[in-house]
Amino acid sequence: MRSYQDVYSKSLSDPENFWADAAEAIDWVTPFSRVLDNSAAPFARWFGGGTLNTCHNCIDRHVDAGRGDRLALIYDSPVTSTVERYSYLELKAEVERLAGALASLGVARGDTVVIYMPMVPQAVFAMLACARLGAVHSVVFGGFAAPELAARIDDCRPKVVLSASCGIEVGRIVAYKPLLDEALARADHLPGRCVILQRETEPAELVAGRDLDWNDWVAAAQPHDWVPVEATDPLYILYTSGTTGRPKGVVRDNGGHAVALSWSMPNIYGVEPGETYWAASDIGWVVGHSYIVYGPLLNGNATVLYEGKPVGTPDAGAFWRVVAEHDVGTMFTAPTALRAIKREDPRAEQLRAHDVSGLRALFLAGERTDPATLQWAREQLGVPVIDHWWQTETGWAITASCLGLEPHDVRDGAGGRPVPGFDVRVLDEAGAEIGSDSAGALAVRLPLPPGTFRGLWGAEAQCRQTYYADYPGYYRTADAGYVDSDGFVFVMSRTDDVINTAGHRLSTGQMEEVLSALPDVAECAVCGVADDLKGELPLGFIVLNSGCERSYADVAAAAVAAVRAEIGPVAAFKRVVVVERLPKTRSGKVLRGVMRKIANGEAWTVPATIDDPDILDEISSVLKSPAGTR
Ligand code: COA
Ligand code: AMP
Repeated sequence: MRSYQDVYSKSLSDPENFWADAAEAIDWVTPFSRVLDNSAAPFARWFGGGTLNTCHNCIDRHVDAGRGDRLALIYDSPVTSTVERYSYLELKAEVERLAGALASLGVARGDTVVIYMPMVPQAVFAMLACARLGAVHSVVFGGFAAPELAARIDDCRPKVVLSASCGIEVGRIVAYKPLLDEALARADHLPGRCVILQRETEPAELVAGRDLDWNDWVAAAQPHDWVPVEATDPLYILYTSGTTGRPKGVVRDNGGHAVALSWSMPNIYGVEPGETYWAASDIGWVVGHSYIVYGPLLNGNATVLYEGKPVGTPDAGAFWRVVAEHDVGTMFTAPTALRAIKREDPRAEQLRAHDVSGLRALFLAGERTDPATLQWAREQLGVPVIDHWWQTETGWAITASCLGLEPHDVRDGAGGRPVPGFDVRVLDEAGAEIGSDSAGALAVRLPLPPGTFRGLWGAEAQCRQTYYADYPGYYRTADAGYVDSDGFVFVMSRTDDVINTAGHRLSTGQMEEVLSALPDVAECAVCGVADDLKGELPLGFIVLNSGCERSYADVAAAAVAAVRAEIGPVAAFKRVVVVERLPKTRSGKVLRGVMRKIANGEAWTVPATIDDPDILDEISSVLKSPAGTR
């Protein structure tokens, strides 16, 4: 096995040759003329001059090489009691026909398509069909409310929206179609067509002249071949939370993405073609894009699309049943899912009921894995459990213990060592590098490796300002932490107003915008507080307008309902307290840090800059009162 240190050093000292070698794993139509073009720094362009097609690399080339009978996609849906298996040949047939259907609506290279769908195979076909045509997909997670969908539609202006009648949550059907209708009523941009997959669980009414029935539409289509696109052309836009209400559209290219994800499969995950790989995430998140869809298919693996939860579908043995039934070799999930399982089945009795002997490793990401959860999983599973750190922007892991390289030891509480290609540094406030074991801002020296974002959709100035302005020459991750003397990176917190709830990235600033707009609210603040299951949960503090006559409970309920309606259930915003005033500095800055400490029961001191120290005691007593009010 190759040495981590050698591979890592080469990736930084000679990135052009390193990534040119990795690019051999990809089928190019026209070879690239330049591996790295850094002339528009901070934006690096990888594999310029090269043309390829990502869908061809995910599907057709495996079929062309005689591997069409191999398993490509396993759809396992405990919520509908369905298991479906698609070979590469069958996947090709589905995707080429869907590409033809999209083309029949005029979708072509460079057009955008929004996919607002639950975890069904048609959603995966849709992503790949867009890639086949050179169209740019933007998948919107089902847990977002209509205004969030509308904001994304207005930002990326899709020619077509693909959706489904409903999604299925534990004990609840989520009617997607009314959410889509509401989003379109709010949006300024109107797509030419909406295509709706009717699910038996709850079909939807179609709007004549605008909506098409998915099955009829596909049945009438002819298969469409893949088209070559530039390596630097966009493959997808994926929106993620920033510090404001406006989501940021992270743009991924085709060439660098294909090369980086192909490289990652054997080197980070230690996965050989032909094995089954399972990322228990959602296609609405970056993990789902990279490791439910593109990474495993690029590498010729069978990938599992799981429409269910770690618990409740039907029990805490659900993950282990999937691992056993589909012979999963490598699995990837979020720590919160493991905590949910551990809480229901602490002695792992439901694990013993399944033969998971084929599992070789479990990877975790989305938030820092607390050592207790990591150790529990390692003891119960008896395989390496590897926390690795990444972001929507980077598209793949910044740090990990790379199973395909030696050594791949782990250090509990750390996200591993920097992955080849990522030059991770810790910086102080002035941007100077800090030595080992001292905390600071985590940054990556430019250029970023292939597969990372090529910018924000239609927002270059915002992109420069957000990621590249504070520390010239570096990418600002907005995470803070330290690197120990052995090179392990500990990612401890965000440096902005983003919190991580159940592995989902949420903006507290966005929640504050929703609360501020309520008629009774004079001022508000939202902080993330620690939660045993979800890692962090949002907690709202509101100050009422003078003369407000509604009860505190009414206002709190309205606040919870507003965040659910405006952002979505995924925000998990359920707790609000009413306070007399917010603690502020004398210059008027809200002291969220001390509020969070009080809410977490941590030791806190009165900040020297506070204008009114008494308010902190009030907050403390409000939080202790069962009603959460004065
Ligand atoms: N469509 C519609 N609604 C959704 C949804 C979707 N795709 N996904 C989640 N929701 C809803 C849930 O039903 C829940 O609604 P509720 O308030 O009515 O109960 C709400 O959004 C919050 O969901 P979640 O935070 O996921 O909590 P949960 O209580 O339903 O489940 C876990 C808790 C831990 C089981 C779950 O969060 C989980 O499996 N997390 C894994 C996260 C993950 O894979 N992250 C990807 C990064 S790797
Ligand atoms: P997202 O873009 O939704 O994937 O969220 C990215 C953010 O999640 C990061 O900036 C971190 O704050 C957090 N995160 C993801 N993985 C890890 C990890 N392994 N350890 C610590 N934080 C993580």
